[in-house]
Amino acid sequence: MNILVTGGAGFIGSVTSDVLIQAGHRVTVLDNLSTGHRPAVPSGITLEEADLLNRVATHAVFARHQPEAVMHFAANSQVGESMTNPWKYLGDNVAAGLNAMRAAVEHGAKRFILSSTANLFDVTGNEPITESTEVRPGSPYGESKRYLERVLDWLEKTHGLKSACLRYFNAAGATEERGEDRDPETHLIPLMLMVAQGRLDEIKIFGRDYDTPDGTCIRDYIHVSDLAEAHRLVLEGKGSGAYNLGNGHGYSVQEVLEAARRVTGHAIPAVDAPRRPGDVAQLVADSSKIHDEFGWVPRIPDIEDIVASAWRWMQRFPAGYRGHS
Ligand code: UFG
Repeated sequence: MNILVTGGAGFIGSVTSDVLIQAGHRVTVLDNLSTGHRPAVPSGITLEEADLLNRVATHAVFARHQPEAVMHFAANSQVGESMTNPWKYLGDNVAAGLNAMRAAVEHGAKRFILSSTANLFDVTGNEPITESTEVRPGSPYGESKRYLERVLDWLEKTHGLKSACLRYFNAAGATEERGEDRDPETHLIPLMLMVAQGRLDEIKIFGRDYDTPDGTCIRDYIHVSDLAEAHRLVLEGKGSGAYNLGNGHGYSVQEVLEAARRVTGHAIPAVDAPRRPGDVAQLVADSSKIHDEFGWVPRIPDIEDIVASAWRWMQRFPAGYRGHS
């Protein structure tokens, strides 16, 4: 299939692009390289450096490549930032998503797969989250994804654009070639590993007073390769609607810290800090829908294996993609 991957120079988009070409698909990446990295794009793939906020440039890319399917990864993706700068989310993320969808419809794409999020849920209690759990976004970031999910629902009715929304829980880990490289970094696992690398002195633990067994937030960390594989399966199997993507097992910030200490052999000093606005106590996925429909099972479910894969990548590329050729 001829697929356009927006945000294909980013973390999840680049790993998914790799999986798609390995499976024999033709892939073009559209990325403005604001947070993505040119060397992350697998070799042999055309990188169209364009900004989805620019409708003319976006349409030109669609006109050149005439994709049959679009995978839309390109977005600002930080829950915390969306609480201090909602415009980047309720404005830019929404506008960029709408431009991608409009171009998809106008250029005859048949399928659209949206990167959605577990931040659609603001749950109390510790029941795993299913696709029928009530949607109540935890932040402007989650709200922007909810809106784009709704738009896709309408575009199926109005234009027959088939779509699927993949709701990622906490993407983490690395492949041999591709990993997390952000500036500034805000995510838990890479920050812990940067302490082990000696690039940071300590990690902050945002809140120890949550209603969880050890008081720190619980998240469902999912390996980036498992996410990428889910995209391939949903595309090829013509999946539709929403799919939750997680391991079904939550780890607290404290447990992730202990895993990172074991993996690196470094003490990784940690200090307590106030809660981070926008965080909810616990997010754990029930992914039985994608399992039942496509047989998807996470291949790397263990937190220590996930952290170890990220650590291997960081050791191989200590300066991130700056060390890549
Ligand atoms: N955390 C810390 N200290 C840090 C960084 C994070 O204690 O220095 C905590 C956070 O408070 C949170 C957990 O570690 O409880 C995970 O935080 P991340 O920043 O790594 O990830 P988020 O849960 O905020 O968000 C990620 C993606 C979002 C996605 C969400 C879905 O960045 O795009 O997972 O659960 F929506």
